[in-house]
Amino acid sequence: MKHIIIDCDPGHDDAMAIMFALANPEFFNCLGITTVGGNQTLDKVSENALKILTVINKKIPVAKGASEPLIEPLRVAPEAHGDSGMDGPIVEEITIGYENQNGIEFLRDKLMESQEKVTIAALGPLTNIALLLKTYPEVKEKIEAIALMGGSYSSGNATASAEFNFYIDPHAAYMVFHSGLPIIQAGTEVSAAASILHSEIEEFKNKGKVSSFVYDLLGFYSKFSKGLNQDRSPVFDACPVMYLMYPEIFTAKELYVDIELEGTLTKGMSVTDKRIWYDMPKPNTTVLMDVDREEFVRHLKEAVFRLDSM
Ligand code: BDR
Ligand code: CA
Repeated sequence: MKHIIIDCDPGHDDAMAIMFALANPEFFNCLGITTVGGNQTLDKVSENALKILTVINKKIPVAKGASEPLIEPLRVAPEAHGDSGMDGPIVEEITIGYENQNGIEFLRDKLMESQEKVTIAALGPLTNIALLLKTYPEVKEKIEAIALMGGSYSSGNATASAEFNFYIDPHAAYMVFHSGLPIIQAGTEVSAAASILHSEIEEFKNKGKVSSFVYDLLGFYSKFSKGLNQDRSPVFDACPVMYLMYPEIFTAKELYVDIELEGTLTKGMSVTDKRIWYDMPKPNTTVLMDVDREEFVRHLKEAVFRLDSM
């Protein structure tokens, strides 16, 4: 059993990651969800987290974290996720409320209360995690790993060099990669491999409440890649979470990763040291390189159908 906290900015792919984790309660003990401004404003992504939990009928505590990156102004991504941050499905009535506690304090309390080490699945800009580690460094001993979606070892998506989550808050990413904690990194490359074909989305149609939600969710989300003449959409944020449960479908390498803070063309880029050379820095990251796409999609589908029958 893995004890996890999901820090996220839902976000269509964040929603898929949350559903995957909560569909597998015998493997994941989810202690809570914290939200962070990213794909949309903090208020919007937080409401989306409540919507997801309402639809799948899971009472997981949700606490709102940081609304702005550490230094930069927040830049949101309506082009991919719509005005609400999770356009597509309509959820008429939300039946879950927020924790009456700031997300950073909530993270601290959940970690310190836990008897077992906890893995943080970080699926948005790393602002909450950086603030947590800086403010309460004592939590480090309670953290097993940070399994995150962000960065890349070849090409970005927000810019030619930087992936969205790291581009939005490069300073937070820098702090996390310099924390000394074990990091599992799913970047743009493994996410591109972890794509769902537009034709596969049809399989969620008219199956049940959760499947219909996913059908509408991925239906909207796929418009972005259809606009780029692609036949599939990367389900970025499900990668680090699925890796925790099914590492055997992924390939990974232990490497040293650092974050660029200054470059005019490279701000927010994750720089992955793949050299074979003397005095190489000790690896600080398990970098996910590739995944068996069909197995990935099979596990995602299984999770959604399982939620329908729970
Ligand atoms: C990342 O950015 C967001 O749009 C997604 O939710 C994912 O976390 C992909 O670059
Ligand atoms: Ca995300």
